[in-house]
Amino acid sequence: MNDAVIVRNLVKKYRTKKRTGLFRSYTEIIEALRGISFTVNYGEIVGLLGPNGAGKTTTIKILATLLLPDSGEAYVAGHNVVKEASKVRKKIGIMLTVEKGFYGKLTGRENLEYFAALYGLDRRKSRERIDYIIKLLELDKLGADYKLFEEFSLGMKARLSLARALLSNAPILLLDEPTLGLDPPSARKIRELVKDLAHREGKAILYTTHNMFEAELICDRILLINRGIIVAEGTPHELKMKIPKLRVVTISIRGEGNGIHQILHTLDAKYEIKAEENGIYSVRIHAEKPEDIFNDIMKKLIANKFEIISARIEEPTLEDVFIYFSEGSL
Ligand SMILES: Nc1ncnc2c1ncn2[C@@H]1O[C@H](COP(=O)(O)OP(=O)(O)O)[C@@H](O)[C@H]1O
Ligand SMILES: [Mg+2]
Repeated sequence: MNDAVIVRNLVKKYRTKKRTGLFRSYTEIIEALRGISFTVNYGEIVGLLGPNGAGKTTTIKILATLLLPDSGEAYVAGHNVVKEASKVRKKIGIMLTVEKGFYGKLTGRENLEYFAALYGLDRRKSRERIDYIIKLLELDKLGADYKLFEEFSLGMKARLSLARALLSNAPILLLDEPTLGLDPPSARKIRELVKDLAHREGKAILYTTHNMFEAELICDRILLINRGIIVAEGTPHELKMKIPKLRVVTISIRGEGNGIHQILHTLDAKYEIKAEENGIYSVRIHAEKPEDIFNDIMKKLIANKFEIISARIEEPTLEDVFIYFSEGSL
């Protein structure tokens, strides 16, 4: 099997007891994954992109053998995640959003030494590896050699979590929202590194995020996930081309406001108007061929004494694509 990760029809339901009274309760079943399928190749960053509750963490945990699926199959480096869990664990580095297991009273470096020993890595080699990784993530500059983990900023903690995921030099990385809530330099550092790990070192990376901008920035391929289902898949460009009708004219204007609806109403297109500050309105018009209506709109706006601050034709954003595939319309 060549693919680093293969997922077929994965289903996961959570069962939680809800109490409705002193002696009454019922079991609520949450379908976190409703049959998802995808693959990740070596040398590729695949983004699992979706809002909170979409099923991203559940997917990562199943692939990391931390959670059992209800049905379907998943293979990591050719090993079945249910039947060959210990083989799978040797092939993965994992980073979860909620970081557990680090020791507050140890320095960054000591924490890494502890985990290297726990993973049974060769002592001499692991010392070299830790030196290398600490430099790679610029943790030395941030004081990982003398600062205790409990004194770390969120950005440093995230860097250390990624460092831990890289300790064993595993060929497959499962990263669950690695930049969530981070300061911009740390987020950027992590993104740059993730790119290098895939494109230079050939690692297979599954990267979850709810940040459309970030997904577009670093992912080679994106899986849009919503309520446990993958609703669309492709490169960022391919995804946008799947909804060619949804190109957008974005206009920023200043004026009385009353006349905008009358003007836009005459168009055969969907539009949104948002009132900003100081009498400025931003308008988005969705059109199949925005070039055809652009001049017409401009003329009408000017004729109606609107001051045009900016106007341009935009490709749909990933957010547009997401809404289109999740809700069937904009
Ligand atoms: N341990 C759990 N028990 C019950 N429900 C859960 C549990 N973990 C996650 N869920 C539910 O499963 C769904 C998917 O969650 P999750 O995989 O964490 O989504 P994401 O990571 O995309 O935010 C959500 O509706 C969430 O509330
Ligand atoms: Mg999550």
